Amino acid sequence: MIDLHCHLLPGIDDGPSSLDEALALAALAVNNGITHAIATPHIHPGRWNNDRYQIARLCNRFRLRLAYAGIPLTLGMAAEVRVDSELIHWLAQDKIPFLGHFNGKRVLLLELPHSHIPLGTENLIAWLLQRNIQPLIAHPERNKDVIRRIDSILPLVQLGCLLQITAGSITGHFGKPAQHRARQLLEMDAVFAIATDAHNCRNRPPILAQGCDAASHIVGHERAHQLVTTQPMQLVARQFSFLEKPASSAHQPQH
Ligand SMILES: [Fe+2]
Repeated sequence: MIDLHCHLLPGIDDGPSSLDEALALAALAVNNGITHAIATPHIHPGRWNNDRYQIARLCNRFRLRLAYAGIPLTLGMAAEVRVDSELIHWLAQDKIPFLGHFNGKRVLLLELPHSHIPLGTENLIAWLLQRNIQPLIAHPERNKDVIRRIDSILPLVQLGCLLQITAGSITGHFGKPAQHRARQLLEMDAVFAIATDAHNCRNRPPILAQGCDAASHIVGHERAHQLVTTQPMQLVARQFSFLEKPASSAHQPQH
């Protein structure tokens, strides 16, 4: 399975605070059946001032640590980027890492504030799409406006946003209202991918297998499986094509 959204890198946001904890979290992901994960630390100007250079450095270092620890997790990188007035400037300064590509557009994992959908979000989405940036909205089912009224997310979908829901929402880890909204979005076929949004081993572990299993009761096994394999891989394949050796060169005889 491919986890599009998780907080795996140590000491960069509210994910693991130490290298040991990050390695334990990665090992949990592998035990859950995750083969590929995209580390998506928060970028939230004023709170988490991360940028793509810093995330790339840490990701490269963590990749080596995973290999040294013998944890077979293929790691990519992006960020979970908060809707914020600074976003346009950060994009102009090329500070924002993208998740991958979709229909010729660069994909941005975009996080709404948990409390509401800010006024002007539709304008921001339209502005991004005009610049060939494809927003993938992180966990809309946990947003309070969406919990109050599911219709509030529909304008963003109609504009062209993709939606990523959290595995733990489908299993009920985030409460009944978020579970209900996750179920509705799955039933509406509005979900592009399921991801863990894992932060730590204790109360935010990577439970993609459980999320896929819960989703299979709503949309069927085949569709649920697509939401954790082929759908996310469609976005991020290019990240991994640089990391993984081509099959033809992997088994060449040594002379
Ligand atoms: Fe997240």
